[in-house]
Amino acid sequence: MTPRPLLTPRLAEFGETIFAEMSALALRTESINLGQGFPDTDGPAEVSDVAIAAISGGYNQYPPLIGVPELRHAIVEHQRRFWGLDFNPDREVLVTAGATEAIAAAMLAFCDPGDEVVTFEPYYDSYAASIAMSGATRRVVTLRPGDDGLYHFEIDELRAAITPATRLLLLNSPHNPTGKVFRRDELQQIADLCLEHDLIAVTDEVYEHLVFDGGEHIPLASFPGMADRTVQISSGGKTFSFTGWKVGWVCARPELVTAIRTAKQFLTFVNAGPFQPAIAVGLRLGDDFFEGLSAELQAKRDRLACGLRDVGFDVYSPEGTYFVTADVRSFDTDDGRAFCLALPERAGVVAVPSVVFYDNKHEGSHLIRFAFPKQDSLLDAAVERLQRLKA
Ligand SMILES: Cc1ncc(COP(=O)(O)O)c(C=O)c1O
Repeated sequence: MTPRPLLTPRLAEFGETIFAEMSALALRTESINLGQGFPDTDGPAEVSDVAIAAISGGYNQYPPLIGVPELRHAIVEHQRRFWGLDFNPDREVLVTAGATEAIAAAMLAFCDPGDEVVTFEPYYDSYAASIAMSGATRRVVTLRPGDDGLYHFEIDELRAAITPATRLLLLNSPHNPTGKVFRRDELQQIADLCLEHDLIAVTDEVYEHLVFDGGEHIPLASFPGMADRTVQISSGGKTFSFTGWKVGWVCARPELVTAIRTAKQFLTFVNAGPFQPAIAVGLRLGDDFFEGLSAELQAKRDRLACGLRDVGFDVYSPEGTYFVTADVRSFDTDDGRAFCLALPERAGVVAVPSVVFYDNKHEGSHLIRFAFPKQDSLLDAAVERLQRLKA
């Protein structure tokens, strides 16, 4: 008799993440790690000072399940100030252990085996795992780069992905890993389909402030009819460069928040007590902070994208987020995974093969992802090392 596998078949496809594998390779080869998307400098001191004071001041026990009041109020103010959306801080906001927990809790709260979740590929890797843990099945719609260098989807493919079993649509904009910022007309099409098929929309907006070139982030919840069916998720990690604090949140109508809270209370119950008042201060920072952040990241995008082009890559320059996608086919291969595995030895740089973010592997096998929220000197050093590829 073959012994029963330890890991449930639901999770069998999720082995070690590519990030762990590539980070170990980076350490072993002393490479510059542009694989994982986190900043290598701290966020604003006026934010971290609040966390330090909170720890020293005895702010160290379980916070309330739904989050500390000052953070919930700050989230509501931020939603109104930037997106013109109104939420009740006591009934329509839930603080979570990062956006990751919010996404997982939403899947566990809304989905059953037999349900389907529609999302776009390439996708942030926790989506597939969260959908699988809920017992639901994912159906993906591919984002493909067009001649304009931007990523697009076919509305007919989205329509075809929606079946009577579809429970919800999981949308990420600004989008990791492509850097796509969904346009108003595209969002209207998505909203129309959610309304037509009575779908819940779960929107991951962790890069809401990282939009470049004067572009516009538009929450799906702001479209007519969508506020009642949208679960809007964000977190403080990317906006304030404190990814390790894992302060996330959900904003939605009370019945949606209540369902998610039911799952969330048995995942972590609560987290990040002393960091919650700090993120509240961050959300209330002046416009100069938020504008400065996107300007700074835009300059880093340009620095890395320009360097990669100079080395010989075809580059898809993102409209937002932390990531640049490059095509390896100009290096006589269409195997991005093999390219990334060899890159540390060849050039002392780590990137991530985008294929891991696709179900339809052929769509992304030739693409690789570099993260640019790094000090300019590190980006320059990485580009310099990559010059070895020209030899
Ligand atoms: C699209 C997307 N969603 C969610 C997360 C995770 O957010 P958090 O750290 O708040 O859990 C990330 C982090 O890389 C991400 O890229």
